[in-house]
Amino acid sequence: MALAQIGVTGLAVMGRNLARNFARNGFTVAVHNRSPQKMHSLLEDHGDEGTFIGSETLEDFVASLQKPRTVVVMVQAGGPTDAVIDQLTGLLEQGDIIVDAGNALYTDTMRREKDLAAKGLHFVGSGVSGGEEGALLGPSIMPGGPAESYVTLGPILEKIAAKAEDGTPCCVHIGPDGAGHFVKMVHNGIEYADMQLIGEAYDLLRTGLDLEPAQIADIFAEWNQGDLESFLIEITAEVLRQNDAITGKALVDVIKDEAGQKGTGRWTVKSALDLGVPVTGIAEATFARAISSQVAQRAAARDVLTASTGDFHINNREGFVEDVRLALYASKVVAYAQGFDQICAASEEFGWDITLGDMAKIWRAGCIIRARFLDRITDAFTRDPELPTLLVDPYFSDEIAGGVGAWRRVVAQAALTGVPAPAFGSSLAYYDSLRAERLPAALIQGQRDFFGAHTYKRVDRDGTFHTLWSGDRTEVEA
Ligand code: 6PG
Repeated sequence: MALAQIGVTGLAVMGRNLARNFARNGFTVAVHNRSPQKMHSLLEDHGDEGTFIGSETLEDFVASLQKPRTVVVMVQAGGPTDAVIDQLTGLLEQGDIIVDAGNALYTDTMRREKDLAAKGLHFVGSGVSGGEEGALLGPSIMPGGPAESYVTLGPILEKIAAKAEDGTPCCVHIGPDGAGHFVKMVHNGIEYADMQLIGEAYDLLRTGLDLEPAQIADIFAEWNQGDLESFLIEITAEVLRQNDAITGKALVDVIKDEAGQKGTGRWTVKSALDLGVPVTGIAEATFARAISSQVAQRAAARDVLTASTGDFHINNREGFVEDVRLALYASKVVAYAQGFDQICAASEEFGWDITLGDMAKIWRAGCIIRARFLDRITDAFTRDPELPTLLVDPYFSDEIAGGVGAWRRVVAQAALTGVPAPAFGSSLAYYDSLRAERLPAALIQGQRDFFGAHTYKRVDRDGTFHTLWSGDRTEVEA
């Protein structure tokens, strides 16, 4: 029998669908799962979709692959991934490639690549986005690892990847070692921010206009025809329209308001803190999920904390909907701008040489944050690859200028009426911080110098200064 061109081990939903995607695209695919039953059920249910070679043991699985062998590992992040890699390492030979296609922490990926490189193996940490359906029909793929591994791997991944409207595959070699998983992590962080912003928009529309979920679904469906067109807006309309099979109520009203998280948002925020990049939108979104899950605190606070809220002042219902749309758009641009800043900072820190325009390109289709406006981001980085922030690109600065009044009204209404809108509020504050002539950071420098002699710099001359605050107040050059 002919040997397989690619193998997949770990056949839970994502691995299974990736394996099917390879097979449907004409590749002979070796498949393996720790408990063989999943492998057998894949062959039984979908064996007719292409050519699979099923193996019950990892030894047989490796033996069924043509050289250099390419093995995609799709198991749980952390310990389980290390365990599979360890087993594979003993069976593979110099020049073989292991691809970790799960959501791994990029520092784990960096460590694994170093270890495996010492053994002559190529390790590629690759982001794969698009959920179950994307894995099957075409995900957005973000492979890192050594550039030479992309020579073998690239054409295979590009074949199964989603294609943007212009036909370009949504897959590119992101950069060496952990670059692929880093970029996927930030993708997920942006996904958190986007989802939270959509959630806040929904909450404001619902409270402000006293609408039913299905009516808000209509608004989202309409927004999806314009600048906000995106996968997340589209599915939001569908989620809001769904009725519960048990009670007949809107399903969103019977789902507990406690958001889960597997950790990629948290990883993004931790890394941003280390890099010193203010990803305020992603951070607010991650913390908002955490607040939602503080069940005991919320129950206690509900009874005790005073609202002192005013009523919504909405004279023009359509105007309010439009304000929320504009606020959502502007906040979303901020969240993406911050995510791109984080990728840029990591690229510099780790010497990855990531092309930001490429990120926007490969997120145009297949992934969870796919959106019409990624074309605009691609254009912005094509116009100026050195853009200091996406917000100053002429297209985006004009768009936001047209909506900034609405953005302020929405944030103000939210505060006055007590509707929590942390992501809307913090992205507006970020925007205002960036555009401020003077920030109160000068005062903070004074305070730091006062209590810790931490010194400060002056606006009118070079050098570093310290003031004898409680003495004769003379400034001394530090
Ligand atoms: C994707 C998704 C995928 C997954 C998230 C969910 O790009 O396909 O982001 O990676 O659905 O991990 O993350 P949370 O469980 O943390 O919301």
